[in-house]
Order: sequence, then structure tokens, then C-alpha cells
Amino acid sequence: MKFFVDTAEIEPIRELAATGLLDGVTTNPSLIAKSGRDFMEVTKEICGLVDGPVSAEVVALDHATMMKEAEVLRKIADNVCIKVPLTVDGLKTCKALTGEGTMVNVTLCFSANQALLAAKAGASFISPFVGRHDDNGFDGMDLIEDIRLIYDNYNFATEILVASVRHTTHVLQAAKIGADVMTAPPKVIHDLFKHVLTDKGIEGFMADWAKTGQTILK
Ligand code: E4P
Repeated sequence: MKFFVDTAEIEPIRELAATGLLDGVTTNPSLIAKSGRDFMEVTKEICGLVDGPVSAEVVALDHATMMKEAEVLRKIADNVCIKVPLTVDGLKTCKALTGEGTMVNVTLCFSANQALLAAKAGASFISPFVGRHDDNGFDGMDLIEDIRLIYDNYNFATEILVASVRHTTHVLQAAKIGADVMTAPPKVIHDLFKHVLTDKGIEGFMADWAKTGQTILK
């Protein structure tokens, strides 16, 4: 499963990229606003930190203007992935862009039927928002299971990008279902490394090692 980080903050991206475990980045207009940075400038900087796809979202709601915005965004770097909303105009834009060889991430997906439409429109990624789905009384992971089943039935190449991930259990469930990608805030990715018994084990080993009075590096 690929790991994307869901942020427009440079330092956390740099830190995670240094682990060698980061496969891409997702941003959205809210994350750009939170960063307080210029959209074009920060996107360019992020594209230089990772080799994989960096999702940059259009803000127009009509197809013609989405295409114009995508034209500007895809010039930022080769690894820019244009993010479009799951609307009629968004999917028209998706079809046109992927037809030209541009990566497209279809965002704000809340049903398996929407995911089916996105795959038919040739989306590179579909982003079902599991956390927001949970918040509304549904089970976000049921949605991922349904999309996996449908995509496998028809061998769709669209990658399932589990988005709106709120905790490490979402990541585990996504991996068990066989989602292709997950995008999570930096904290959730850092939490994946942690286990209380790992910390306790290190503490014990260090204490016992100190008693030997030895060093590995002479
Ligand atoms: C995905 O690409 C979105 O940016 C993101 O996962 C939304 O998450 P949220 O529901 O925590 O805002």
C-alpha cells in the first residue's frame, strides 16, 4: 500500500520523505489555506520533495474553467496530479485530462456508485473520505470494501486512495481490504511507528547493555 501524507506543510513532508516511506502528497484548498502559503509556490516546493504524485485541487466548478486551472497546475511539475471534485463537470474534466496523459485524483467520493463513475472516467485515483463518512453515521470502511469489489470485478486500473483517515485503525483496515493508497495527516503516519512494548523493550535492552560496559563502535 502506498502512503501519501495529507498536508501542505513543508516540514512534516520533508521529515516523512526522509524515512523513505512516503509515496506522495495530497493537498486540498482547506490545507492550502491552513498553510498560509501561496498555492503555486507551496505546490512547487512540495513537488520537489517527493517523486510521487502531489495532488493539487482545482477550485472552479465548471468544466471549461477546471480545464484552464488544470493547465496552469500541471505546468508546476511532472508529478502534479490534478484533483477534481466528484461532479459531472469534475468527471468530464477527469476524462479529458487522463486522455491527455495527466494524472487525476477524483475527490469527495462518498458512494461506491460515484467511485464506479470515476473509474469509467479514467481516474488515476479515487478518494473516498472514510473519516467524514464515519462522522455522518456510515462506516467508511464498508465503502472501501464495496469499491474494491467493484474495481476488481471489472479490472479497473483506478487506484483506491483512502482519504480523510483519522487514526491508525483506518490504515490497518484499508490495508486488510487491499486499498492501493492511503493519505493521512502526518500525526497518523507517525503513530503507525509507535508501540508501547517497542519503547519498553528498547528501555530494557538499553539498561542491560549499559551493565555490560561494552561499546559496538570502538
Ligand atoms: C484527501 O485528499 C483530503 O485532502 C483529506 O483526506 C480530507 O480529510 P479531512 O476529512 O480530514 O479534511
